[in-house]
Amino acid sequence: MSHRTEKSFWEPREIQALLHTQVLGRNLFVFNRIGSTNEFLKRLARRGAEEGTTIVADEQSAGRGRLGRRWHSPPAKGLWFSFLLRPQLETEKVGLVSLAIAAVIADTLCQACHLDGTVKWPNDVLISGKKVCGILCETQVSPAGVESIVAGVGVNVNQRYDDFASEWRAHATSLLLASGNMWDRRTLFVKLMEAFDQSLFKNLPDKLPVLMDKWCNCCPALGQTITVIPAPLAPQSHGDENVTGIFAGIGESGELMLRMPAGDLRFFAAGEITLST
Ligand code: BTN
Repeated sequence: MSHRTEKSFWEPREIQALLHTQVLGRNLFVFNRIGSTNEFLKRLARRGAEEGTTIVADEQSAGRGRLGRRWHSPPAKGLWFSFLLRPQLETEKVGLVSLAIAAVIADTLCQACHLDGTVKWPNDVLISGKKVCGILCETQVSPAGVESIVAGVGVNVNQRYDDFASEWRAHATSLLLASGNMWDRRTLFVKLMEAFDQSLFKNLPDKLPVLMDKWCNCCPALGQTITVIPAPLAPQSHGDENVTGIFAGIGESGELMLRMPAGDLRFFAAGEITLST
């Protein structure tokens, strides 16, 4: 099924004709402008939308980032989309999904754009140490387990330096800035959709170990001294103080494992990290 808002920037049926996917994008909504693709898809998910339903927008007026932040989503510059997963997954494993998505994106940027994408815990994709992509996964659970995961992906594609807000310029990049070339957003969208379709659907729990290996292989901070800035009120946040130690690995639920100077391990479920020099 395809859905198009009046004169949309992409024709959904054209996209669907290009997609070699089994699950993802069979039900595709294209918007010129929307508040947030995640918000829209969460509403559809609550009404029983099928797995693989995808929303893509040229512009978001209220794009959302992690930790209650805003995600700047100007028209014609990036890829702003959300897709729906309904995996048979234990609730405790949900935190692994956004890491898996980041690993797939880093891999796709490498294959499709020949750019060296790396991942940063919990779910950023970077090029040359600057953020090119963010992921916001929002989960609905019931006593029976995971009902749905709305996976929102924002990729900075054709922004120039001045297109980023001044406070972001030091930390953000785009595929254009990283490569010197403009990129066709539709081609990239199709490649990402195909990569997600292969990696994340049809028995996700069996696929997660390989995806986590992939994540670890493209995480330069692993084994390095880092500082964790725990998210306020996050479980296991140890009173919210910044903590420095060695990034020892990823736990079974996607938590960051930090080896403390005394040798003990601490686990962090949410927050940010910085590499200590
Ligand atoms: C982050 O790094 O803070 C996560 C950013 C996620 C942005 C994407 S853009 C598409 C989807 N819709 C939203 O409102 N947010 C996500």
